[in-house]
Amino acid sequence: MLKDCIRSNLRRLLTKEKSIVLERRIPFLERRFENIEELGVYLHIPFCEQICPYCPYYKEIYHPDLAERYTKAIKSEINFYSNLVGNKPVTSLYIGGGTPTTMLYSGLEEILEHIFKSFNMQCDIHMESHPNHLSSDNLKTIISMGINHLSTGVEALQDRHLKFLNRPYTAEGVKAVVERAVSKDFKCINVDFIFALPNQTYSEVEQAGHALVEMGVDQIAAYPLFIFPYTRMGETANDNNYKISSLLKRRKMLGILEGIFYGAGFRRTSVWAFTKPGVPKYCSVTVPLYIGLGASGGSYLKDVFYLNTFHVAEYINALEDGRMPIAVSLDLSENMQMAGWLYWRTYETRFMKKDFKKRFGKDFDNIYGRYVKLLSLLGFLNDDAGQIVLSDKGTYWLHVLEDLFSLDYISKLWGNSKQNPWPTKVAL
Ligand SMILES: C[S@@+](CC[C@H](N)C(=O)[O-])C[C@H]1O[C@@H](n2cnc3c(N)ncnc32)[C@H](O)[C@@H]1O
Ligand code: SF4
Repeated sequence: MLKDCIRSNLRRLLTKEKSIVLERRIPFLERRFENIEELGVYLHIPFCEQICPYCPYYKEIYHPDLAERYTKAIKSEINFYSNLVGNKPVTSLYIGGGTPTTMLYSGLEEILEHIFKSFNMQCDIHMESHPNHLSSDNLKTIISMGINHLSTGVEALQDRHLKFLNRPYTAEGVKAVVERAVSKDFKCINVDFIFALPNQTYSEVEQAGHALVEMGVDQIAAYPLFIFPYTRMGETANDNNYKISSLLKRRKMLGILEGIFYGAGFRRTSVWAFTKPGVPKYCSVTVPLYIGLGASGGSYLKDVFYLNTFHVAEYINALEDGRMPIAVSLDLSENMQMAGWLYWRTYETRFMKKDFKKRFGKDFDNIYGRYVKLLSLLGFLNDDAGQIVLSDKGTYWLHVLEDLFSLDYISKLWGNSKQNPWPTKVAL
């Protein structure tokens, strides 16, 4: 109740909207690309070999026949966009999931070739993977496809926590896998790690933090465990009496990790990510404008956000029938675009005020100056020579805000989309 009240007041303050509702409508896309200089492409591979109980992403159990039909459908979706995008440079390609490595030998290469043939690609390729898929042969295949930034979900480094998360490997096993990937010729190896697990101790977090650094990775994304109501863990959380760490405990655990990562020379590159200096950041979510290919792919084109259906068979059927697989969309007012821009730039923990002017033609200080002054006085950020940089304290409170907003939005949007492949409306 209190959370709903804070949410609706903050939303009104930042976006001036009473409510935000996505509707079952395919936006008219013809003109939307005209005033875009460059964009990113996100490709969703919605298959996994097993379903982890905490995972909020859209995925189904991998099946080779489905992967074959999915490959054809993705290629049709690419064909649809290639005329619209024309020769605009694509400056980011991110392959996420689910588990993209399930399709390593069943369509991924064909899709990549089609992407490179259809768009003006001017970027590296970033891809997520499952640790159990990173054999020497598979790493060779991944590199041969031109994928030079690789992420894998380590998640925990104590066997009891891996067991709780239902991950199919041991701590020693996953360390060896990551070390093998690090020894290969990638520009960036990122590992995901989940902390604030039920009954996790501070010393376990400390031990895992050191082990992550010792593996020699270029980037570590450390997230606290979020419980999404529509996941298996969310559905059983009350029955199982999971002790979810309080905000203060999370803060202390994050502080332990910050100390270890900074001490090892990493710097913060987003709310959750720590990267070695000189290494290009591995990142999925902060690209300013992008199209999302595949089931559950989301696209953001300045004044519109839309989402594909969360259902592999429906996605394939739509494209086989010559229909776009877009399920719901939302037109974005200028205030909403500005609030979204601010959210994602602060998520990266630093940004230039002139980039706001470039994007919206408005002076950043005229719109947000008074809030920046207040937050600077509270020690949440520094406003220095046109650059805003969040402090660790500010980053933590951004995470609290994320807990309040994004997780609620994601739960409503993804939860509803998962239940109904073609919802008529989703109110956030
Ligand atoms: C698509 S998965 C990673 C790739 C691959 N499927 C795997 O499992 O290794 C994306 C990442 O999101 C993070 N994640 C997923 N669910 C989470 C949750 N409930 N709370 C916090 N982090 C979560 C995990 O760290 C996970 O590695
Ligand atoms: S965490 Fe990875 S393997 Fe597990 S269900 Fe999610 S995407 Fe699939």
